[in-house]
Amino acid sequence: MSSDRFYYTTPIYYLNAKPHIGHAYCTILVDALTRYRRLFGAEVHFLTGTDEHGQKVQKAADARGVTPKEHVDELAAEFRALWPELHVACDDFIRTTEPRHMEVVQQVLQRLWDRGDVYVQDYEGWYSTSEERFFTEDELVDGKDPVSGLEVQRLKERNYFFKMSRYGERLRQHIVDNPGFIRPAYRANEVLGFLDKGLQDLCISRPKERLSWGIPLPFDGDYVTYVWVDALTNYVSALGWPDGEAFSRWWPHAHHVIGKDILTTHSVYWTTMLMALDVPLPQSITATGWWLSQDRKMSKSLGNVVSPLGMRDVYGPDVLRYFLLRDMVVGLDGSFSEEALVKRNNSDLANDLGNLQRRAGGLVEKWYEGRVPAPGEVGALEAPIVAAADALREKVPALVDELQIHSAIEEILQFVRRLNKYVTDTEPFKVVKFDKEAAGRSLYTVLEGLRHAACLLTPVMPERMAALTASLGASPTGLLAELRWGGLAPGTKIALGEALFPRRDLPEAAPAPAPAKAPPAKAEAKPASPAGVISFDDFMKVQLRAATVLEAERVAGSDKLLRLQVDLGDERRQIVAGIGKSYEPEALVGRQVVVVANLAPRKVFKVESQGMVLAAEMADGGLALVTPSAAVAPGAEVR
Ligand code: MSP
Repeated sequence: MSSDRFYYTTPIYYLNAKPHIGHAYCTILVDALTRYRRLFGAEVHFLTGTDEHGQKVQKAADARGVTPKEHVDELAAEFRALWPELHVACDDFIRTTEPRHMEVVQQVLQRLWDRGDVYVQDYEGWYSTSEERFFTEDELVDGKDPVSGLEVQRLKERNYFFKMSRYGERLRQHIVDNPGFIRPAYRANEVLGFLDKGLQDLCISRPKERLSWGIPLPFDGDYVTYVWVDALTNYVSALGWPDGEAFSRWWPHAHHVIGKDILTTHSVYWTTMLMALDVPLPQSITATGWWLSQDRKMSKSLGNVVSPLGMRDVYGPDVLRYFLLRDMVVGLDGSFSEEALVKRNNSDLANDLGNLQRRAGGLVEKWYEGRVPAPGEVGALEAPIVAAADALREKVPALVDELQIHSAIEEILQFVRRLNKYVTDTEPFKVVKFDKEAAGRSLYTVLEGLRHAACLLTPVMPERMAALTASLGASPTGLLAELRWGGLAPGTKIALGEALFPRRDLPEAAPAPAPAKAPPAKAEAKPASPAGVISFDDFMKVQLRAATVLEAERVAGSDKLLRLQVDLGDERRQIVAGIGKSYEPEALVGRQVVVVANLAPRKVFKVESQGMVLAAEMADGGLALVTPSAAVAPGAEVR
């Protein structure tokens, strides 16, 4: 997907609540992608904004006793002000109540109408106010809205419909022909599955008497536009569709980044609308997973939201960005906890990166008058470092291209760890006392390595990495192509300054980490649990879920390990399971297994495992999979 131009968009956020970490994540991800692409030499246009019409927003305004206009003006200002606080720099911020947007929505509708793609019809169905849409009888779950689980009401209404069904086949073909169109790839199957059920037409109007807060239909003033048709249009209204210069410049390079809950609206509603308008489809639609808090999707209605500004105030925007981008695999869910953030800060930033900078800086200050020492000859110990830096300049763009931001960050940190090891191996702190030249060579290597790491981490932590670069006496490298080993000029004054990443204490409420070995029980201590016994509360932390195996193959180089792709209902996971001696991969496809679903991902034989499959040991040492005794829905909780 390499190109020299990118138009990146985030979803536009509903103004029914204040922004939380989940919203911040998507925007920070797109900001980091934007910065990476620019570093790699591309031109980028980055759009975000706010979704200001519809029932949810009208209700939120009513609840506060203010007009919708007053409400959205206040909240939009809050969203807009939030982004720079998190070091997000968008190129445009669109509000759906702006005239530039409303005019385009009306033009879109008029064009669909003129082309015969819209018709009017009486419709009766189950209406969900929370989802702002009708559901058919079949779609209801226990008579309730299948998405929110809330009550629905029977409504009969005359409404306008978009002939979406016309475009189902074309869309299917587009998805099949363009494997990178919906990312991660497994999400494309979900959309194809949705299309398989047969595409319906889409109700695109709401009677004004029921909902007045919307954009009037150009061909019938008694109706306003369905909020999704309104909202999706932002991606082109912001570019001045149909004939704005920005539209022709950026639209052919469009990439939408969204959450997995709004994949259908984007990959089906939006794409078919574009087809009807004769506008080419975007290059890609990437669906991210959710940030969970206390094991549930972070959302206002569940009352488990974490405020991005609250975290920013304590840890700073760049540490928050680092955590969100490092601990989330794009596409999968991640668990947010302050404890995990602090641990990540302490291990990667305060320890690996911060210590290296301080160790090298301190020696340079003390022994080299605070000036970058001469690089000397690249010796046997330096050559692998130089080679690793060269490799990193190739690896990071490739991983960003694959949206593997967490792996790109990990590669850079591996390099930093390697530099730490190099310091331990070359011992400049000892050598400097008898061979200043040799120690200088070590220090030059470390400072230059740090300059590389800082450049490559700048999209993740723009301000902290600018500070690191400045502390090395270097100027920022805006283009990766200009980053070359040896760029740090000997003799330059370095400016150590404050510690970039202070160590943090674990938050008070967080449980203390369990000691590696139980301390010997003392007479006065509370009766200790028998060895190996865990509390009920601890056990309840383990999330066991049923999953269906979709694909299975052997992990190269191991006779024991199988790489499984499993369906967990609302997501797909890759799990490495040590059952290869007891099962042939082919025999597993379609089987139901039980998995530990909330294990932190880890690498097994270089393959990431996002959970664990349960199996019982047999008398002969083989393994027997634990399986539900009757078929259950993928993702079903195992209690
Ligand atoms: N207004 C629509 C989007 C219209 S785009 C044309 C909307 N807004 S939203 O505010 O409800 O959600 C915006 C985005 O935030 C969605 O992509 C959603 O997936 C994301 N998130 C909301 N909660 C989230 C988490 N807990 N974690 C990660 N992202 C989640 O939908």
